[in-house]
Amino acid sequence: MSTMICVGIESTAEKLGVGVVTDDGEILANVKAQYVPPPGSGILPREAAEHHSRELPELLERALKNAGVEPEDIDLVAYSQGPGLGPCLRVGATAARTLALALEVPLAPVNHCVAHVEIGKLAARQDGLDFDDPVTLYVSGGNTQVLALKAGRYRVFGETLDLPVGNMLDTFSRKVGLPHPGGPEIERLAEKGEPVELPYTVRGTDVSFSGLLTAALRRYKQGDRLEDVCAGLQETAFAMLVEITERAAAQLGRDEILLTGGVAANRRLSEMIHEMAESRGAEAYTVPQELAGDNGAMIAWTGILVHEHGLSIPPDEIPEKAIVKQRYRVDEASVPWAAHPSRSADSQR
Ligand code: ATP
Ligand code: FE2
Repeated sequence: MSTMICVGIESTAEKLGVGVVTDDGEILANVKAQYVPPPGSGILPREAAEHHSRELPELLERALKNAGVEPEDIDLVAYSQGPGLGPCLRVGATAARTLALALEVPLAPVNHCVAHVEIGKLAARQDGLDFDDPVTLYVSGGNTQVLALKAGRYRVFGETLDLPVGNMLDTFSRKVGLPHPGGPEIERLAEKGEPVELPYTVRGTDVSFSGLLTAALRRYKQGDRLEDVCAGLQETAFAMLVEITERAAAQLGRDEILLTGGVAANRRLSEMIHEMAESRGAEAYTVPQELAGDNGAMIAWTGILVHEHGLSIPPDEIPEKAIVKQRYRVDEASVPWAAHPSRSADSQR
């Protein structure tokens, strides 16, 4: 059987990504461009969208070149349908729609959160682990969720009640004058610090970060060393995330734990997740950085699953059906390929 090739476009927030992936999970290209907000500011959605439309043609060209693929080799186009920032989502969707129509190939709409899980499962399998039914901690600038498959859908078993953890880290760093993105800066400083004590807020299966952020900023203003505040911020926030992930794993009786999203790049968080998994006799897997943060390959790979399960849009229906969903919840997305994890374990994926 000939290989199917999918081009995936990711544009939910500040990152723009184009990935080229085959139906046996080979990642042929995965290129990115990042919008950086003006100093002292958070993401400006309009500006980010302008950045994405400016960068997309060159990024697409580079992805195809890296993959060694000609436009006529493309069998499928996928895009991130949501959740995300409206102006940014529309750039990716419009480009994907135009490309699919020009090539006369189907278009696969993808739920961004589902894609984070699916690429994580693929990466784990490619690293020799059988991850079919994990509890996933998905942590990024825009999302903080504990996800697991139940009754045929990915459901949210815990989440933040206010700020996503990456946003909290970026806000802290912005307010103390560190460059964006703040997560890696905080990690670097935390390695040299002794954690200060900060408020820990877990409510059942959910976490809240606003009190922690306020308290950390106060400690810094009161004269605590930035290194010590960063260490305290990480230890507290990550312990909260580990606690709700462990609770979900225990309640659901799952023994695979997947860590993904941009914040998964943090070595301390990864270590804490692995320690927790080990203590329960479970296995943890941290998705490699290039696939953990927002990227086009995860959209392309999930697009293939969507298409193989009859959920892609045929070319003649693209104009009216290729919409975006800014508030697309993960449990609204149909994921028939994931619904029978034990069965799919026997096959290639
Ligand atoms: P999403 O659309 O899924 O919310 P995003 O736009 O936030 O994603 P990602 O690449 O998934 O993009 O995540 C970026 C976040 O990851 C930023 O908040 C950044 O500070 C954080 N981050 C990156 N590296 C690290 C690190 N080493 N430690 C902690 N946080 C990190
Ligand atoms: Fe994301």
